[in-house]
Amino acid sequence: MTQKFKVLVTRKWPSTVEKKLDESFDVTLNESDIPMTEEQLLEAMNSYDAVLPTVTDSISSKVISSDKRKAKIIGNFGVGFNNIDIESAKSNGVVVTNTPEVLTDCTADIAMLLLLGVSRRASEGEFHVRKKEWSGWRPTHMMGTKVTGKTLGLVGMGRIAQAVAHKAHFGFNMKILFFDPYFNNNDIIEKFSALPCNTIDDLLRGSDFVSLHCPSTSETKGLMNIKTLAKMKNSSYLINTARGDVVVENDLVQALESGLIKGAGLDVFEGEPNVNPKLLNFKNVFLLPHLGSATEETREAMGMRVFSNIRDFFDGKEPTDRVV
Ligand code: DGY
Repeated sequence: MTQKFKVLVTRKWPSTVEKKLDESFDVTLNESDIPMTEEQLLEAMNSYDAVLPTVTDSISSKVISSDKRKAKIIGNFGVGFNNIDIESAKSNGVVVTNTPEVLTDCTADIAMLLLLGVSRRASEGEFHVRKKEWSGWRPTHMMGTKVTGKTLGLVGMGRIAQAVAHKAHFGFNMKILFFDPYFNNNDIIEKFSALPCNTIDDLLRGSDFVSLHCPSTSETKGLMNIKTLAKMKNSSYLINTARGDVVVENDLVQALESGLIKGAGLDVFEGEPNVNPKLLNFKNVFLLPHLGSATEETREAMGMRVFSNIRDFFDGKEPTDRVV
């Protein structure tokens, strides 16, 4: 590459990746890690050849469709790209890439952690010990729900759901149900002896754990609301590592208050980083701050994936992870 293209990174990235970017591009980093405003993002689109946002940056139509736009590619640091107005990118001829595959296992691990954490009352137990409330072992102390052999219902059967199915089926002997109107890979179904459900209601009624693995789209926003939550078993748990807005948080609160479901494990929230204050009061809710992909290995791999995508783009090749 002879010309050094101007690249803006919107948040602090693992230093190995920042160094790698710096070797090939005229890169501006965000050492302070303070999120950029819409105005600053718009200005960045006007001044840089590539903007590398993450899931916390809202790349709106206003940001993309500026008359003075210079940026030709948005290299998203994240597999989900609901932070970007994809239609606007498409109509303005801006390329968008994401970071699939590299975060599959770590996100699936967090889904299993939430599933185990909420059903075995892990954070409740941990606080109990730390607060010195533990008076000793007794037969009825902090009894949770057995996981092994139970039925796991997966909403969406993409890469992360398949990794969860693998861990749950082979590690915990769980029966797998799934609902995904776009999925038709029989090999995968056979691999986990998974049963496809024709409707989401079938899945909700038959599962001891319901784990969400769909992107946030106009079809899935608010998918889990008071009506769908009411179809789950009273003894079941809801797990969300997908996107917060797939669940109507106020309805989830209502479902927990009225005992429609037994508990929830949540890594993502409707108004991140704000969490519905009522959720903070439930002992049967296990909460994490959007940690799905948060391992050193994965965050570095995500950054390297963004690097390869923009390097290929500026070398005149098709970026591997182009979404539009
Ligand atoms: C993603 O990549 O979409 C995650 O939510 C952040 O890791």
